[in-house]
Amino acid sequence: MKFLSFESDVSLGQNASEFIAKEIARHDSFVLCAATGGTPTITYRELVKKKSAFEHVRLTLIKLDEWGGIEPTHASTCESYLQQHLIEPLSFNQERYISFRSDAPDPEAECRRIQESLHGLGRINLCILGLGMNGHIAFNEPADFLQPGCHVARLSESSQQHPMALQRSLPGTFGFTLGMADILQSETILLMVSGQKKKEIFNEFMNRKITPRLPASFLWLHPNVFCYHTADSLH
Ligand code: F6R
Repeated sequence: MKFLSFESDVSLGQNASEFIAKEIARHDSFVLCAATGGTPTITYRELVKKKSAFEHVRLTLIKLDEWGGIEPTHASTCESYLQQHLIEPLSFNQERYISFRSDAPDPEAECRRIQESLHGLGRINLCILGLGMNGHIAFNEPADFLQPGCHVARLSESSQQHPMALQRSLPGTFGFTLGMADILQSETILLMVSGQKKKEIFNEFMNRKITPRLPASFLWLHPNVFCYHTADSLH
């Protein structure tokens, strides 16, 4: 795992966006899987400014996860987030966008639909992840065991306290997520960690003990992970 430490969110975002833009630009066709949340916002803002660098690339975008039981247009969905921060500013072709529907009437069937789309695509080239306060990645929540594929996740107390979740009137209890194998099969992974509030969980992650109680710890098994973090999130 390669660690790069930055003094501020802005410098993390600028450097991470440069990394992402370069990764995309050196391909003809590229599959990008994107997390939402507070951490990647500046990165996406900076990435959009660099769009001319990768306009020639046939880009496919995958939404990493989604809150369940809520209108897709609600301000707190991952859908609204990606529409606002990546899809609209990049004028992204929606035909090459794979995304869980937050209000899918049959959540299990929705996961099967997304899993099939992933199989059709092959490998994710770059998967962008944030670190949950409880060590989750996407909605792979701490548990006795983890799940390899797309699944409906029962949200932990911690995830229900996520700022995106707090924007809704009724608490959400489930989410949709890519599974651990979907993520770990990515060619490259960019894990971003920002802010003092992540210090405790990030330090635990740094112990390199692989446990389903800290799903992000499985990233230690992957040969090509870049961890961009702010200095205040560690030690
Ligand atoms: C969101 C996602 C989550 C977040 C994590 C950190 O799509 O996959 O796992 O990355 O909860 O969230 P922030 O960045 O808001 O601290």
